[in-house]
Amino acid sequence: MSQELWTAVDGYLTEKLIAKDAVLEAAVAANAAAGLPAIDVTPTQGKLLHMLASMIGARWILEIGTLGGYSTIWMARALPEGGRLITLEFEPKHAEVAGANIARAGFADVVEIRVGAALDLLARIYSEGVEPFDLVFIDADKENNANYLEWALKLTRVGSLIICDNVIRDGEVANAESTDEKVIGTRAMFDRMATEPRLCATALQTVGSKGYDGFAIAMVVEIAKFERP
Ligand code: SAH
Ligand code: DHB
Ligand code: MG
Repeated sequence: MSQELWTAVDGYLTEKLIAKDAVLEAAVAANAAAGLPAIDVTPTQGKLLHMLASMIGARWILEIGTLGGYSTIWMARALPEGGRLITLEFEPKHAEVAGANIARAGFADVVEIRVGAALDLLARIYSEGVEPFDLVFIDADKENNANYLEWALKLTRVGSLIICDNVIRDGEVANAESTDEKVIGTRAMFDRMATEPRLCATALQTVGSKGYDGFAIAMVVEIAKFERP
């Protein structure tokens, strides 16, 4: 099993299942031209986010970590007429590139990019008294994953989905001795998920063109339906 094989299979699945898409290809090209790191979700993962948003009929989405807006565009495309998405980004340059990509995709009036440290922006969004979000996608600095989950719980309602990217980290997530702050932050997020009765949560390991990683997926529930460890 190798990265080469995972990439080849991702290529096969993408070719089979995901229509060629000039807008998303243009976004990836613009990101590269601007020197953004190529750490967006893959096409198959982007389509999963899109389908999950569709399945729950999401109208109001929060994304933490925009980069060039690749995942943003996938999710925005699942919104019904009148739906909205807010995405949070620390780096002004990333936000600028994302703004152009999102406008090219036709979502300038649907997506709001807020620039700053997500923890500050989340506190502001909360104080604005917004409606609870239907879907929160956490994909920023992994050190803060537990804090982002905490905010996501404040900003959602029963039935909302909370998805967190990059939670497997080449398997390091299972290493309790890890000194990597991203692993520590992600493990703290899982600790919170494990003890939060309002969450029904799982996680999936994935391999693909971006390596060995995975998503955590949690649904906000009245009372957890399954026994906890
Ligand atoms: N969701 C994107 C990828 C996001 S990469 C996609 O799949 O297309 C992570 C992003 O989070 C980077 O752009 C990084 O600048 C941003 N980020 C890092 N720390 C942050 C913080 N404290 N607040 C907001 N954004 C942050
Ligand atoms: C990194 C961040 C991501 O969101 C991702 O999907 C891959 C890598 C990173 O910070 O290195
Ligand atoms: Mg990610």
